Amino acid sequence: MFGAMLLHILLLWVLSHLSRADCERNDARPENLDLLQRKLNVANTNSSKPNLLFVVLDQWRWDWAGFHDAHVAMPTVQTLAARGVSFMRAYTPSPQCAPARSAIAAVREYKDMWVKNNTYHYVSEKMTPTFMSVLQQAGYTTMLAGKDHLTIAPISGPFQSTGMEALGVDRFHRALDKYSFCQGIFGRYVPVDGYSDYLTAKGILQAQCKAYGGIGYPFTGAEGACCNETPVFDWAFPQENGFRCMMPNQLDEEHSPDAWVRRSAQELLDSHQKDHGASPWFLQVNFLGPHPPFILKSSTALPSTSLPEAIDVSGSEQQPVFDLDLHGLQMVPNIFHGYVNITDSRKQYAALLQQIDEELEELLKTVDQMPGETVVAVIGDHGEHLGDHGQFGKTSPFEPAVHVPLIIAGAPFRHNVKEYHPVSTIDVPMTFLELAGILPSPTMQGYSLMPALTGVGTLTRPAVMSGMNYWQDVIPDVNYSHGRVQFDSAAALFGTDFLKLICCPVGCRKGGSLLPTMVAPQVALMNVTQGEDVHRFEKDILNQPAGHGVQEALYLAAFLSKDFQEVCMPLLEALAV
Ligand SMILES: *[C@@H]1O[C@H](CO)[C@@H](O)[C@H](O)[C@H]1NC(C)=O
Ligand SMILES: *[C@@H]1O[C@H](CO)[C@@H](O)[C@H](O)[C@H]1NC(C)=O
Ligand SMILES: *[C@@H]1O[C@H](CO)[C@@H](O)[C@H](O)[C@H]1NC(C)=O
Ligand SMILES: *[C@@H]1O[C@H](CO)[C@@H](O)[C@H](O)[C@H]1NC(C)=O
Ligand SMILES: *[C@@H]1O[C@H](CO)[C@@H](O)[C@H](O)[C@H]1NC(C)=O
Repeated sequence: MFGAMLLHILLLWVLSHLSRADCERNDARPENLDLLQRKLNVANTNSSKPNLLFVVLDQWRWDWAGFHDAHVAMPTVQTLAARGVSFMRAYTPSPQCAPARSAIAAVREYKDMWVKNNTYHYVSEKMTPTFMSVLQQAGYTTMLAGKDHLTIAPISGPFQSTGMEALGVDRFHRALDKYSFCQGIFGRYVPVDGYSDYLTAKGILQAQCKAYGGIGYPFTGAEGACCNETPVFDWAFPQENGFRCMMPNQLDEEHSPDAWVRRSAQELLDSHQKDHGASPWFLQVNFLGPHPPFILKSSTALPSTSLPEAIDVSGSEQQPVFDLDLHGLQMVPNIFHGYVNITDSRKQYAALLQQIDEELEELLKTVDQMPGETVVAVIGDHGEHLGDHGQFGKTSPFEPAVHVPLIIAGAPFRHNVKEYHPVSTIDVPMTFLELAGILPSPTMQGYSLMPALTGVGTLTRPAVMSGMNYWQDVIPDVNYSHGRVQFDSAAALFGTDFLKLICCPVGCRKGGSLLPTMVAPQVALMNVTQGEDVHRFEKDILNQPAGHGVQEALYLAAFLSKDFQEVCMPLLEALAV
C-alpha cells in the first residue's frame, strides 16, 4: 500500500510540473471599484489598503474556542473576539483538509470545486486564480507560513516551491501536515518540508520523528514514542483514531511544529518590512495543530477542570464498515473504542489549543509592531469529533466536523459582536478582497462578510454548504474498507430555526445514533438551532410527524450539487405527497 502511495505521490508531482494553466485575468471595472471603495470608506477612514492576517488552525471545532466552554483556555482568541466579530455559525466547505483549503484558495463552493478529497490538490489540475494571486496583482506582498495542503508532497525534491507560483504566493515557509513531515526511507527520516529542514539543521530530525511517529517505506508502523499506546496514523485502522499521547515531548518545548510555524510567520513579516517597508501585505499562517497526534510540551498542563463529555457515544460500540467487495454493510466492533480514553483525548485537545493560543499571542505582538492597519481572521479548516457520535476525526456531515470557529478583528470594525447568520470559510477571502478594494475574479463565489463587520447592510448568503466525496482505501491488514464517504449538505435559517439537510447517496457513515445505518440513499433534516446556552445535539426532524420539515428540506435541496439532487430530491418528493 505504501509503495503504491509513494508511486502515486511521485506521479502527482510529475503531473503537477507538467501542467501549467494560465491564470485568468481579473478585468476590474472601475465603476464597481469606486462603489466598493465608497463602501469601504464607511468602515475605514484610512484610504490605504489594510494588511491582512489569515490564521488557520487544523481540525479546530466550533465549540472549542472558549466561547461556550470557558475552561477551553484561548485568551488570545477571546481578545480577538472582543476586538471584532465572531461568526457563530461558520461552516467549512468540506470536512477534510485539501478540499477545505482548496475551496478557500479558489473561493469556490465545494460542489463547484475540482478538489474533492485529500487525494487531489489545488495545483494538481485545472487552475483558476486564487485570492492570493488577485491580492498579489493588486500590489500586496503575499506570504504563507505552515501547512497549506494545496500542492502534493513529493518524498524528496523541490516541495518548497512546488506550485507556489500558481498559488500566487511571493514568500513562504511551508510544512506538510503532522503525519507527513516525518518520512523515512529504510529506517531513516529525511527532510521533506520546511519544518523537517529546520529539524535537520538543528540535528534533531531523527529524535523528533521518533517522538511523533512517521510514515515510510518499507512500512514499519507509525507509532511515535509519545503516543505508543495508540496508533498515530489513521490509515492503518478502519477509521481515524483518538490519540492518547501520554508522554509530553521535551523537544517540543522549543521546536514544536506550531512554534516553527509562528517563527516562520514572524520571519516573513520581518523580511517583508526590510524589503518593502509599509507597503500592504497578506500573510496566511497555517498552524499544524490541534490536528492529532495530540503531543504536548512538558510545560503544558492538562486542564484540571472537567470538559464537556462526548455526546452520543453509545454508537461507538460497533461501527458500520463495507465489506471487501464494497457491496454490503457489516457491523464490526469499534477498534478504537477499547483503548482510547475520550475524556483524556479531550483534555489533550484543549491543552494543544492553549499552546497554539500562546503562539498566536506571540505572533500578534509582531503584527502589532508592523506599520499600518491589520485585519485578522482566524478559522478552523474543519472540525474534530472528539468522541461525539462515537467518532474521532472529521469526514462527517455532523456539527463537530463541519462547524468551525471564525473570528474577524480589526480596528475599524464593530467590537465584541456575535453574528448568527450562517457563513462559510470561503467568505473570508471574499471579505479580504473587498477590504483591499479589489474586485474578485469572475471564477470566485462566496459572500463578503463586510456587512457584519461594519453593521452597514445585511449578510445575504442564502445557505451554507459542506460536501465530501471520498472512496476510502481498502486496508488489507484489517480486511475491511472504510467504504464510501459521500454526502452533500446545506443549512439555512428559517426564522429562528437553523436547519441542515444531509443527503447521502450510499448511506451516511459516522452516524452514531444520529441516523440509521444503511447502504441505501438517505436524507435527514437536522435541527441545529443553538440557544443562548450551547445546544450541541442535532437530530433528524424530517417528516416527524408526517410532512414535518419537508418544505424546508426541499428549499435546502436546491443548494446541493446536481448529482446529489438527483438522488435525494425524489426521496423528499415522496415525503411531500
Ligand atoms: C480516562 O482517564 C481518566 C484519568 O485521566 C480516568 O479517571 C478515567 O477513568 C478514564 N476513563 C476510562 C473509560 O478509562
Ligand atoms: C493609516 O495608515 C498609516 C500608514 O500605513 C498608519 O500609520 C495609520 O495608523 C493608519 N490610520 C488609521 C486611522 O488606520
Ligand atoms: C478523490 O476525488 C477524485 C475526484 O476529484 C476522485 O477521482 C477520486 O477517486 C477520489 N479519491 C478517493 C480516494 O475517493
Ligand atoms: C483477514 O482475512 C484473512 C483471510 O480471510 C485472515 O486469515 C486474517 O486473519 C484476517 N485478518 C484480520 C486482521 O482479520
Ligand atoms: C429546533 O430546535 C429549537 C431549539 O430546541 C426549537 O425551538 C425548534 O422548535 C426546533 N424546530 C423544529 C422545526 O423542530
